[in-house]
Amino acid sequence: MTQPQTKSPDKQAVRETAPAKINLALHVTGQRNDGYHLLDMLVTFARHGDVVTVTQSAEDSFTISGRFGAGLSADQDNLVIAARDGLADLMTQAGRTATPVHIHLEKNLPVASGIGGGSADAAATLRALMRLWDFVPRQADLDKLALSLGADVPMCLTGRPAFVRGIGEDIEAVDLPKFNIILINPQRPVSTPAVFRALETKTNPPLPERLASDWLSYFANARNDLQAPAIQLEPLIDAALQALEASGATLARMSGSGATCFGIYPNEKSADAAFALLEGDHPDWYLLRTETISP
Ligand code: C5P
Repeated sequence: MTQPQTKSPDKQAVRETAPAKINLALHVTGQRNDGYHLLDMLVTFARHGDVVTVTQSAEDSFTISGRFGAGLSADQDNLVIAARDGLADLMTQAGRTATPVHIHLEKNLPVASGIGGGSADAAATLRALMRLWDFVPRQADLDKLALSLGADVPMCLTGRPAFVRGIGEDIEAVDLPKFNIILINPQRPVSTPAVFRALETKTNPPLPERLASDWLSYFANARNDLQAPAIQLEPLIDAALQALEASGATLARMSGSGATCFGIYPNEKSADAAFALLEGDHPDWYLLRTETISP
């Protein structure tokens, strides 16, 4: 007679990607009394990113792996832990108990590099835990929690191309086409507060009005106001932008507060060829050939 099988405990794992965030344009239009800057941005996301996996566990734990995992510590000040604790608090307030979880972060993207990083990981943690715990907070509570974790967390939580204003809380989804892009980073972390401090003019014109032209012409008329101050702090950013332009990018620009820059190429073939060229020329830099998402 066959033995009855012992049922293993429920080890359901929920996996969420934390896609790289790309600021196609970032205009700094003012500054609030608390020091935060008012922004007018167009953001999109890449197909590649970090990966967050959450699993039911006997006790709370957090582990990190991946190419850039060594640059991070899995301690209390990681935004992933803050996201878990914030969501657990909302669940307690709703009269439910958040069960212990193991969270694993596969850190594939460079840290402190202007493409979402910790904010994208925190947003992916919120999405994963809402599924695992089967808990959806009230929208206003979720929005407040996301913004309290970081100005980029609300847009990363939405995870869709959008015009983003305020300090990051005002999100207007927009349909963008898929772009063939290369991300390039000279492997130098850049401090976001330091870049904002180095910005000379805080009241710059907002994004141009979008007339009936194509998206690429629209971006070409926009800017990243943090690019010049970031280059002042880290001149290799300028070298990265020049490398993208020389490799055939239609548009080369820095994302966020840097140092990651992106190049948009006319088609897959030109982006693949540029990638091979850049990899050969800059073996010490971080390079990713990817596409932006489209609905
Ligand atoms: O919100 P987050 O923690 O990601 O922001 C990091 C820092 O970047 C802030 O402490 C602030 O110095 C600067 N920042 C800003 N204006 C924004 C977003 C960030 O001045 N809209």
